[in-house]
Amino acid sequence: MAASLRGLAVALAALAVLLHGTDAAAAATCVGVAPAKQRPEVVSITEFGGVGDGRTVNTWAFRKAVYRIQHQRRRGGTTLHVPAGTWLTGSFNLTSHMTLFLARGAVLKATQDTRSWPLMAPLPSYGRGREMPGARYASFIHGNGLRDVVITGDKGVIDGQGEVWWNMWRRRTLQHTRPNLVEFMHSSGIHISNIILKNSPFWNIHPVYCDNVVVTNMMILAPHDSPNTDGVDPGLVHLDGRRPSGDQERVGRVRHRLRAPELRHHNPPRARLVAVQRHRHRQRGLGGVRDVLVEDCAVFDAGYGIHIKTNVGRGGYIRNVTVSRVRLRNVRAGVRIAGDVGDHPDARFSQSAVPTVDDVTIRDVWGVGVQQPGSLEGIRSAPFTRICLSNVKLYGSRNDAAAAWKCRDVRGAALGVRPSPCAELATNLASGYCT
Ligand SMILES: *[C@@H]1O[C@H](CO)[C@@H](O)[C@H](O)[C@H]1NC(C)=O
Ligand SMILES: *[C@@H]1O[C@H](CO)[C@@H](O)[C@H](O)[C@H]1NC(C)=O
Repeated sequence: MAASLRGLAVALAALAVLLHGTDAAAAATCVGVAPAKQRPEVVSITEFGGVGDGRTVNTWAFRKAVYRIQHQRRRGGTTLHVPAGTWLTGSFNLTSHMTLFLARGAVLKATQDTRSWPLMAPLPSYGRGREMPGARYASFIHGNGLRDVVITGDKGVIDGQGEVWWNMWRRRTLQHTRPNLVEFMHSSGIHISNIILKNSPFWNIHPVYCDNVVVTNMMILAPHDSPNTDGVDPGLVHLDGRRPSGDQERVGRVRHRLRAPELRHHNPPRARLVAVQRHRHRQRGLGGVRDVLVEDCAVFDAGYGIHIKTNVGRGGYIRNVTVSRVRLRNVRAGVRIAGDVGDHPDARFSQSAVPTVDDVTIRDVWGVGVQQPGSLEGIRSAPFTRICLSNVKLYGSRNDAAAAWKCRDVRGAALGVRPSPCAELATNLASGYCT
């Protein structure tokens, strides 16, 4: 295990050097966007009565600290320092111009007090909770309408203690949609790095209606059978920074979810997910996900390695998505791009809201223990276009090539793909967009 991880680190470092041009370009997208900067003021959670003994509930201390930072603003912002210790707390909000810093040995632990967990309105683009009708549980760490927020540290941990929530899901006793671990809404300039997220009740990081969200150097852990513990789930429908109007809310289920890699049980030496979302108000009520870059990830012991999905009923688009330099180990399917995943919250969706998927490149992927290379399944009335697989090598358990790809209603190109790509992609190499 240790040896193979070291091998991975070396391989990724080598790749990073080889592809430095790409790397620099990616970093340039984030200039001024990811302010992982020093803040002129640092306060400690202990100044607000926090006790890191693993038993004291610190919700009030965190809320007081954030209130202080919000109401006595310092130019350049404030760092809230969480020293080593186990800090049990309920859900709390962040504020603009702050850094939440988790020192080495610091564990921010969510209380398992599900009965008094705060509720909030469902996302307008869903019109209801993702799992249950009506309100949803607030995320453990939440931000709404913020700018310039950093969550970072020295390998500190945010532990969602999700087991109680997973069990409620398994026993069908959930009253409301489960909480995300970290969620930002209507925010911009968010940087999350250098910490470990584990055992999220639901999705780990959910930026929604956000711009300029950068997630780098993260380790995200959950048992492989934990339900819906997606790593980073960038969403959706951002209408030029405005909230959808009532009308659009009604069209409401217009939404996309780009389920960027489920990062489970993984230990990437260096993983970066840059989701640059620029959603434009193209047609009334429709939005999309575009300009997303995911690179340098390792995904271990998961269902899907790389998964992009949408549904009839969501409308809008997924466009200009690049996923590169990903290592997979022990996954059920390497790559899945799907246009009808069927997970509608209810049956009231519009058959005419057909999403388009265009210009998706999956490049430099190396997988072992991959049961199925994957499936690229578009929508009959709107085939996916310009899907490019380049240098994607997926092997089964004993260095055999994995089983065959499954494709339909998809057009694109493939270069250096193992096992052999399906005919839909093998056709169109001259087009230039897949090199
Ligand atoms: C946190 O933010 C949410 C959404 O903006 C708000 O409804 C809630 O009252 C806030 N909670 C606290 C404790 O400030
Ligand atoms: C595609 O997305 C990348 C970010 O991944 C961005 O830098 C680039 O400008 C986008 N291309 C177009 C044509 O919008």
